[in-house]
Amino acid sequence: MRLASDSFRLTGPGNTAILPRKERRPTGDRAAQGTPEGAKLGTGLELPLDQVLVGDCVALLRRLPPASVHAIFADPPYNLQLKGDLRRPNDSLVDGVDDAWDRFADLGAYDAFTCEWLAECRRVLRKDGTIWVIGSYHNVFRLGAALQDLGFWILNDVIWRKANPMPNFRGRRFTNAHETLIWAARGEESRYRFNYAAMKSLNEELQMRSDWFIPLCTGPERLRDATGAKLHPTQKPEALLHRVILSCTAPGDVVLDPFLGTGTTAAVARRLGRRFIGLERDERYANAAQARIDAVVPVAEGGLATTPAKREQPRIPFGALVERGLVPAGTVLTDRARRWQAVVAPDGSLRCGGAQGSIHQVGAAVQEAATCNGWAFWHLEVPGGRLRVLDELRTEALAQR
Ligand SMILES: C[S@@+](CC[C@H](N)C(=O)[O-])C[C@H]1O[C@@H](n2cnc3c(N)ncnc32)[C@H](O)[C@@H]1O
Repeated sequence: MRLASDSFRLTGPGNTAILPRKERRPTGDRAAQGTPEGAKLGTGLELPLDQVLVGDCVALLRRLPPASVHAIFADPPYNLQLKGDLRRPNDSLVDGVDDAWDRFADLGAYDAFTCEWLAECRRVLRKDGTIWVIGSYHNVFRLGAALQDLGFWILNDVIWRKANPMPNFRGRRFTNAHETLIWAARGEESRYRFNYAAMKSLNEELQMRSDWFIPLCTGPERLRDATGAKLHPTQKPEALLHRVILSCTAPGDVVLDPFLGTGTTAAVARRLGRRFIGLERDERYANAAQARIDAVVPVAEGGLATTPAKREQPRIPFGALVERGLVPAGTVLTDRARRWQAVVAPDGSLRCGGAQGSIHQVGAAVQEAATCNGWAFWHLEVPGGRLRVLDELRTEALAQR
């Protein structure tokens, strides 16, 4: 156990506590490469990795080095502006968000705060990093406008559709059954990470859509105090953070949450072999978050690899399949509808009528198309008359390497 770096100890009143943390080893390739880029830039400060820092997030963010984190998840105050108690038809009190941390003098004050923390988030985000901001109809439009005004580049708005939303007790509006997550890159030029293949795999090989059906946080996952009451009114489900973190980071990446609450982001990040930095103003929440994080058992290093994107897969030229006799020279290839036949040359090129070139060039030429993925277009007939697509043979060849 060692104390957090003194560089992060705030001096202002009410902002002094920093929780001790356990020294933890990162997992995954990027962690193995050492401190993330940016950690030693400019300020000379170290990144407080795998720590929960207690204090105002704007003040704490100002102490972080620029361009140092890969992803941010922010679940800021909603500014619900609840007026009076809300009661169910049986007169029991609804457990709404009326805490001091959610109160702002007016919309102007909320907007000013939003711009302050978002500007700091943009400063600490790496050039190719992304931010997730979650909100309800009370604040999400203001968050979206602020993101765009500050230069972030919105990539998606994701609807988190709640499987078990709270009813509208007064019956004067629709049941409010979703929250919106805005996913944005640091800027328009960012070459951000999107783990497309992993998201598709998570969705049983269908492209992951922007509407997510996930239950509210209930049952044993919900943190409770000694009296059994909810410890925090807006604890987010781990399933939501699992999808967010898996979609845009790699093992060893640094995920920052400026409004950590009960520590959902940090707990999931740790489980998935990512590093985290959590900021939270309320010491009670920060303590609960730290205990929760300490109880997390990270996935073993060998279990973290997700489906690689096609471009991350090892490459093999078609000629190598010819050399190895998997598709010998002289073989006749055809498309799935058997409209065209092409002969394989010893150098891995194809000939079809007047067209000669790579599997991609000849596939494009016969279809009079601009491009063609020859691996998916050309097929080989095997005994019994069945067609096998070249992509299958490529996978076999890669497995033999
Ligand atoms: C909507 S909750 C986040 C809940 C969290 N996502 C979870 O799963 O538990 C917002 C949190 O931000 C904290 N907060 C509000 N203003 C803050 C500030 N200026 N700096 C740091 N934390 C703040 C609140 O104490 C509250 O716990």
